[in-house]
Amino acid sequence: MAQNIYDDPAFFAGYSDFPRSRLGLDGTAEWESFRALLPPIAGKRVVELGCGFGHLSRWLAAEGAQRVLAYDLSEKMLAAARAASADAAIDYRRADLDTLVLEPQSADLVVSALTLHYLADFTRITTMIHTALVPGGDLVFSVEHPIYAARAVPEWVPASDGRDAFAIADYSVEGPRRTDWIVDGVVKYHRTLATMLNTLAGAGFTCRAINEWRPSEAQLAANPDWAATELTRPMFLIVAVHRPEGRSH
Ligand SMILES: C[S@@+](CC[C@H](N)C(=O)[O-])C[C@H]1O[C@@H](n2cnc3c(N)ncnc32)[C@H](O)[C@@H]1O
Repeated sequence: MAQNIYDDPAFFAGYSDFPRSRLGLDGTAEWESFRALLPPIAGKRVVELGCGFGHLSRWLAAEGAQRVLAYDLSEKMLAAARAASADAAIDYRRADLDTLVLEPQSADLVVSALTLHYLADFTRITTMIHTALVPGGDLVFSVEHPIYAARAVPEWVPASDGRDAFAIADYSVEGPRRTDWIVDGVVKYHRTLATMLNTLAGAGFTCRAINEWRPSEAQLAANPDWAATELTRPMFLIVAVHRPEGRSH
């Protein structure tokens, strides 16, 4: 049973104050890297998993997607997304991605931003997405990078060279991480990079590109303090995979 922490009033209030929530894609640090991995959008049938406030779905519609099915578990996130625009190409739907089953071969592109690390079963969701894509279709998603997600509580520790190092523990111990982020007791799931890539391959995907996000030079110039943090450990992992033509599974 999914946690649905985004409908917790205190969590929702805190999350709503983040730059990505207030400013949309302009406030989303990894957006340019994510966008660079997207295939052409015009005319595509797109599914977004974990649409949140709907910023990406609205961008996809503006890029000419034939339609965007935008799923999220949170009533509050969906209400805000619906209130933000009435674009006829977007259909916001409430669903739990732990159990959602999409129509086979009903999508040309599936996207998901910072959502799949909330799901306990990565094999189920990747197999389901592969089945939902047409042969030749694409999946592009971001998750918290496993180096970042391995520890329930991110921690910086003084290193012998006088700098702060990012502490990693339990990297090879996969499974739930109960963390205190905005509110106490938020549950996310840690999976190694190998597990994610091998699971995608096992589902039938081929890899197009992997991005372990780092800020651009322009972002570093605008945010000099990011050099010490964002160049030390990757916070986001962005993955672009493809359902090959002519495969039966
Ligand atoms: C970190 S937010 C990301 C929102 C948006 N994609 C973005 O990048 O700003 C994670 C989203 O995933 C949704 N979510 C988490 N678990 C889910 C589940 N089991 N089923 C559907 N949505 C889920 C949350 O409600 C939330 O809107």
